[in-house]
Amino acid sequence: MVKICGIGAGYVGGPTMAVIALKCPSIEVAVVDISESRISAWNSNKLPIYEPGLEEVVNQCRGKNLLFSTDVEKHVHEADIIFVSVNTPTKVKGLGAGKAADLTYWESAARMIAHVSNSDKIVIEKSTVPVRTAEAIGKILTHNTKTKGINYQILSNPEFLSEGTAIQDLLNPDRVLIGGNQDPQGLDAIQKLKAIYTHWVPQDRIITTNLWSAELSKLADNAFLAQRISSINAMSALCEATGAEVSQVSLALSKNTKIGPKFLNASVGFGGSCFQKDILNLVYICESNGLTEVANYWREVIKVNEYQKSRFVHRVVTSMFNTVSGKKIAILGFAFKKDTSDTRKTPAIDVCKGLLGDDACLSIYDPRVTQNQIEKDLSISCSGVKHVNVVGDAYEAIRDAHGVCILTEWDEFKTIDYERVYENMVKPAFVFDGRNMLDVDKLRKIGFIVYSIGKPLDQCG
Ligand code: UDX
Ligand code: UDX
Ligand code: ADP
Repeated sequence: MVKICGIGAGYVGGPTMAVIALKCPSIEVAVVDISESRISAWNSNKLPIYEPGLEEVVNQCRGKNLLFSTDVEKHVHEADIIFVSVNTPTKVKGLGAGKAADLTYWESAARMIAHVSNSDKIVIEKSTVPVRTAEAIGKILTHNTKTKGINYQILSNPEFLSEGTAIQDLLNPDRVLIGGNQDPQGLDAIQKLKAIYTHWVPQDRIITTNLWSAELSKLADNAFLAQRISSINAMSALCEATGAEVSQVSLALSKNTKIGPKFLNASVGFGGSCFQKDILNLVYICESNGLTEVANYWREVIKVNEYQKSRFVHRVVTSMFNTVSGKKIAILGFAFKKDTSDTRKTPAIDVCKGLLGDDACLSIYDPRVTQNQIEKDLSISCSGVKHVNVVGDAYEAIRDAHGVCILTEWDEFKTIDYERVYENMVKPAFVFDGRNMLDVDKLRKIGFIVYSIGKPLDQCG
């Protein structure tokens, strides 16, 4: 029986390993993590991350061919194939601070693999890493192994899942990318990994490349997606200035088959753990290679995203007669997008901080994000701070508020009874739709002053 070990039980490692276990009953999958609390949550009825469909997959496999453990060394020692999905945050100090990927966790995982291995291993990069990381990992592995003659093959097999649709993305991927050395041993390792995916992914969706193309493709993929959002968000500012409607512009663009329909929703800005981190990483790699113009090109994608968030705050404050001081504002949605509890780099953090900077009183509601998490993200303790209140439902958040900001496109915000909430708000009552999800005309008929990204401004506003 082939044994697989997945190091890192986070947003990527957890769902990915669970789906491999589901689709390959003949393979034993051990998911390991140094975090005891994470592992005990994976072994409980309350999984550490929310992802539609995940619970069902875990319940089906856990205790059969899927296990979660903190005994990292044992399972690495026993495995033939090791997927590494540890976190690679942006460095906060030292060389490349603020841009370069921090590979500390990766390096310690690699040293641990070398330390405990006494048989050949295929080591797979799942987490997004800078291009040429495999070279460094290879050196760490070969220089630290105690048993002579062990062969390590490093493959790059980046994960393209999106949070909120992780299980669907894993079950039915657009493509699976496998990069490896192009010598006979490398090609053999590529085939072994391909054999796992062919349990459920059609052959023609599995692309094999050299190591560096696979590593760079992941960074390129996220950079291209983020660039589309910043492009449409830049257009949204111009729409507001000219009377064009960004949703109409998006529609026109989407019908050009060279452009296509996806990732053209103007928003308050993109968030999530990947886009900003990976673009900054790309910027750093470009700079390290002396490619200043290329670095500047990608840096602008981030700048437009920052601009979009601050533009939103500016719009809220100016619409509300240049002061939000002491005014209650309801914040609906805190996660970086719907159907996830993840708040990493969510635009809500900057928007809330911006409004708090103008002394607004925030009443925050998100269906999946905990109060504790929101407090952590805003670096405050809500209890005792009268400016921030985290509440349990949308109606409570909106009651007696001057304005409502929609920051995440949760479906339930569409079905709020806006007539009812209007009655209980201070007048004039404002709605700032940062996700363009509400029916602007309907809200205006009720009496709201409405601001929507990239749409003509309310004449009353
Ligand atoms: C373009 C638009 O495609 C068309 O919809 C619009 O109406 C007019 O402008 P055109 O300029 O005729 O059409 O040619 P196009 O095929 O889009 O190529 C424009 C330039 O981009 C060319 O220099 C082409 O070589 C270059 N290009 C195009 C690339 O370098 N890479 C590509 O992947 C595609
Ligand atoms: C992304 C990539 O899509 C995925 O391929 C990669 O593996 C990981 O990074 P994820 O961060 O989970 O996935 O979410 P995604 O759906 O890409 O959304 C990222 C951000 O962009 C969210 O804040 C979302 O709200 C925003 N977004 C997305 C828009 O503002 N407009 C859009 O049209 C699409
Ligand atoms: P991602 O979104 O990339 O999955 P997460 O932060 O959710 O990122 O998950 C990464 C996981 O990797 C964390 O649970 C962390 O505890 C784990 N981890 C980091 N370093 C190691 C290591 N050396 N060995 C085992 N697990 C690790």
